[in-house]
Amino acid sequence: MEKIIIRKAKVDDLNDILRLNLDLFKKEHREYDKSMDLKWTYGKEGKSYFKKGASGKEGFCVVAENNQKIIGYLCGGLYDHGYRIKAVYAELENMIVDKKFRGKGIGKMLAKEFLKWCKVKKANYISVTASGKNISGIEFYRSLGFKDYDVTLEIKVK
Ligand SMILES: CC(C)(COP(=O)(O)OP(=O)(O)OC[C@H]1O[C@@H](n2cnc3c(N)ncnc32)[C@H](O)[C@@H]1OP(=O)(O)O)[C@@H](O)C(=O)NCCC(=O)NCCS
Repeated sequence: MEKIIIRKAKVDDLNDILRLNLDLFKKEHREYDKSMDLKWTYGKEGKSYFKKGASGKEGFCVVAENNQKIIGYLCGGLYDHGYRIKAVYAELENMIVDKKFRGKGIGKMLAKEFLKWCKVKKANYISVTASGKNISGIEFYRSLGFKDYDVTLEIKVK
């Protein structure tokens, strides 16, 4: 495998990040969650969210590059949890590594950059939410030290 570069995202990466985010949404939609809105990524909200992240205006966004091609990304940010004790709360919001490059340590490299950023921001808690059925994603987060915190239960009304 050629060299993998992990670097902060730039506005020029926006199209690649959008492409990968739609891959993530399609995977979640296909495998676990039919309520994922496949129009969100390229809609007004999705584009604005990723543009802010990629430009560094808001939150944190990092990409993995192989042979000048973006093959993974991670976005996260800080959150205000009004109902919890006063502290700095961070959230790993979404990430994906291109299927061909999974299991090679790239996800871990992306996550480590985020954890470093959280430290700089003096975050006290870092959370991530995954679909309950995304066992490999959950195992990945556990391998980084994340522990179960909340369980969301839902019922689909018929
Ligand atoms: C989850 C994901 C980002 C992990 O990235 P990755 O590059 O494949 O992960 P890494 O190779 O860095 O793995 C790091 C560790 O995570 C664990 N891990 C990774 N994939 C795993 C799997 N499928 N099952 C169990 N553990 C896994 C392992 O402990 C691994 O350490 P090891 O290589 O020493 O065994 C990637 O698999 C992916 O893009 N999945 C689809 C999208 C997704 O689920 N995103 C997260 C939810 S938003």
